[in-house]
Amino acid sequence: MRNRSITIAFYIGICFWFSFAANAQPAKGGKKISSDLFGLFFEDINYSADGGLYAELVQNRSFEYNPTEQKDWSPYSFWEYTAPGFSYGRISVETSQPINSNNPHYMVLDVEHVGHEAKFEGVSGVGLKNTGFDGIVVRANDKYNFSMFVRQLSKDPISFHISLQTPKGKVLAEIKMYTSSNDWTKYTATLIPTLSNDTARLVVLATTEGKFAIDVVSLFPEKTFKNRPNGLRTDLAQMLADMKPGFIRFPGGCLVHGDGLGNMYRWKNTIGPIEQRKEQRNIWNYHQTTGLGYFEYFQFCEDIGAKPLPVLPAAVSCQNSGNTWSIGGTGQRALPLDEMQDYIQEVLDLIEWANGPATSTWGAKRAAAGHPSPFNLEYVGIGNEDKMTPEFQERFKMIYEVVKTKHPEITVVGTVGPSPDGDDFTKGWQLANDQKVPVVDEHYYTSPEWFIANQQRYDAYDRKSSEVYLGEYASWGSKLRNAIAEAACMTSLERNGDIVRMASYAPLLAKKSFTQWKTDLIFFDNKVICPTPNYYVQKMFSANQGDYYFDKIISKDEKDNSLAASCVQESKTGDVILKMVNYGNASKTMKINLSKFGKIAAQAEQIVLTGNPDAENTFENTQNIIPNSSVIKTDKTFEYSAPAMSLTVIRIHTR
Ligand code: AHR
Repeated sequence: MRNRSITIAFYIGICFWFSFAANAQPAKGGKKISSDLFGLFFEDINYSADGGLYAELVQNRSFEYNPTEQKDWSPYSFWEYTAPGFSYGRISVETSQPINSNNPHYMVLDVEHVGHEAKFEGVSGVGLKNTGFDGIVVRANDKYNFSMFVRQLSKDPISFHISLQTPKGKVLAEIKMYTSSNDWTKYTATLIPTLSNDTARLVVLATTEGKFAIDVVSLFPEKTFKNRPNGLRTDLAQMLADMKPGFIRFPGGCLVHGDGLGNMYRWKNTIGPIEQRKEQRNIWNYHQTTGLGYFEYFQFCEDIGAKPLPVLPAAVSCQNSGNTWSIGGTGQRALPLDEMQDYIQEVLDLIEWANGPATSTWGAKRAAAGHPSPFNLEYVGIGNEDKMTPEFQERFKMIYEVVKTKHPEITVVGTVGPSPDGDDFTKGWQLANDQKVPVVDEHYYTSPEWFIANQQRYDAYDRKSSEVYLGEYASWGSKLRNAIAEAACMTSLERNGDIVRMASYAPLLAKKSFTQWKTDLIFFDNKVICPTPNYYVQKMFSANQGDYYFDKIISKDEKDNSLAASCVQESKTGDVILKMVNYGNASKTMKINLSKFGKIAAQAEQIVLTGNPDAENTFENTQNIIPNSSVIKTDKTFEYSAPAMSLTVIRIHTR
């Protein structure tokens, strides 16, 4: 009897699966479009990584800050010498025996006297206090993982008092630790504050006399995104995950090709234990620990179901380096040709690191970091809006030729300069078409009016040439009108999703008071996140992507450029998704006809973003402009009155 019910259940299951699979077809007449259309572009600009998405709370943890980054910076920056209880000692920065040659500076503390005066009630000793990134935010009863590397330079073990304190010295959490080795050794502890504080300091105090070297002093909240070690700030990472991006391009931007050849982003410097990674100056005039490195980027992509799109320099540095953007730099310089073979190998090694078996040389390094299975890399970007000089073109071709031949499974994304037109754009497209580069990366930052006026841009693109990745775009502003102009553009990207493979707004993140770029998608400080209206537009599109585009479902006044609309179907679910944009200052009617989709559900989910065209979100009012969701009744045909300055998304189930 039991066997019979199992057989029946199995049969029903199979029938259900077959009927679902048969239904997993789009309606007739749709145009196949990219299923990777809307994604994210993460660049370490505006303190997006260190002090931002990367959850490390200690600033200058490895004493590698230096005056080439900001002229008043040094290995001592963001650290204060402290010697409470009438103690005294000496402190110096040394380089003779580092943990790793990639991480040359460390601090030496010679504790000459620990005070024992009865009238002093606190803990006496000599040590260092870190002020974090504008203070350290801690929450009562949460766990914080502390670690430090110490090398005892005197005979006896050193005892430490590690604490979190308010700026006035009130202890929020404390623990004792003891060293045990004359070699570099990692010591770890958990701190649990009894009170919350938004501007705490980390204090590392040696409480016995002696001498020691210290490096890589780190403090992470135990709660990171998906609880990953060396992980990401949960609230910021969740904001990105909520967008359901199809892909993430990283780590830049201009950061990739760097401020001179020596500053190019070399992916191998960013993997392995953090104390072995090579930190470096950021082209945006601050410091990158590379703690958020290639492993963490790939892991994050996997954690949120986005395809990774790493971008590697095309062996030339950024043409803008050395101008007002950066304090060092040389402009565009090219790696000598006799170094190109090694450089190309570096690109091939990345593919092996991401996709090779755990037994391969580079796959083994991925496995050692905790990821034995491949990351399934599909895309690699070569170059970032580079000047189309003969030097660039020669090197791009050399890299592209080898990747294409050895890895036909990888889609290479080339580059066509920083603007929607002009010399680099023309030469870049020429190069791409000559070389048959599968996809090229276009960039434009311009006015909302330009976005409205250029909605037909991709309708005219030759379907036989390279596909487009609109890798960076924004309409110079965080007002609702900017967001809605971008929404109009995004409907045109969907309409042209047969030639536009991917698109991502830029830049993504910006820390309040630490921005280098005016218009960004998500602003944040140590506690608060302030998404722009543009964020909601991006989210409404990327969380509602389809893979088939349908014409003539939405009728509107075709002569009115302030109106835009698109209709896609997600074949996996069968859902039909309508997007309607009104950039005008009065509501306007659109007519919807869904008869080609067969049966449709009686109700649908509707999201509307609208308001005052000049409204923005601010840290004082982060909710000023937010979308409103509701359930509406649907019919095969209906009229929709699109509010002034609005984006509406309606998702209709058909199964
Ligand atoms: O997104 C900010 C910068 O704009 C990028 O680094 C660069 O690619 C572009 O010029």
